[in-house]
Amino acid sequence: MATVSESHNPLVLDRITRLRDKATSSREFRQFVKEITILLAADATNELPMVDIDVETPLQVTTGQLVSQPGPCIVSIMRAGNVMAETLRDLISDASIGFIGLARQPVTLEIDDYYTNLPSDIQDRYCIVVDPMLATGNSLSVAIKKLIDTGVSQITVVNILACPEGIQRITSEYPDVRIVVAKVDDKLNEKGYILPGLGDAGDRIYGTDDH
Ligand code: URA
Repeated sequence: MATVSESHNPLVLDRITRLRDKATSSREFRQFVKEITILLAADATNELPMVDIDVETPLQVTTGQLVSQPGPCIVSIMRAGNVMAETLRDLISDASIGFIGLARQPVTLEIDDYYTNLPSDIQDRYCIVVDPMLATGNSLSVAIKKLIDTGVSQITVVNILACPEGIQRITSEYPDVRIVVAKVDDKLNEKGYILPGLGDAGDRIYGTDDH
């Protein structure tokens, strides 16, 4: 049964409001994306496999836990996921980053699958897929299928904004995938944008075309 975990944290909601604001600069936008990613990280990593290990404190030996090896693979859906991926990687020792390049055709919303670069042992790793926006679910669906076809069995998706249409699509196609999202918005518009949304996340992160 798919789980969707939406954050109601005040700091997350504060950053979302700043991301929505069309007056927010690209530099600030990237910073807020990083901060939201950090705030979602605890939830996103809740189910990482752990191993018990003895550790010697200055006072005694005790049992602690470390993230199991091989570490998780953070999978960035390019290009908008890259900032989230780098941010998460700074928090997770021994994580690697994989890349799936998917571009959405502006009119048909069909997905152009142009690049894949994943660690060769990805099937042994817990995967955290990052993409700021879960809109139609087209690109996320392609990315998850690619991972499952490669043998990955545990997947958590992290989004900043999602809409009910995209969540419905992913949870029905992939009931074992967990979704951690900062905010679930109202709906998709006819062009595949989330409303009220924040516009095109990739363009706003990288300061390219206005939409
Ligand atoms: N991708 C975006 O960047 N924004 C949307 O609203 C939908 C998909």
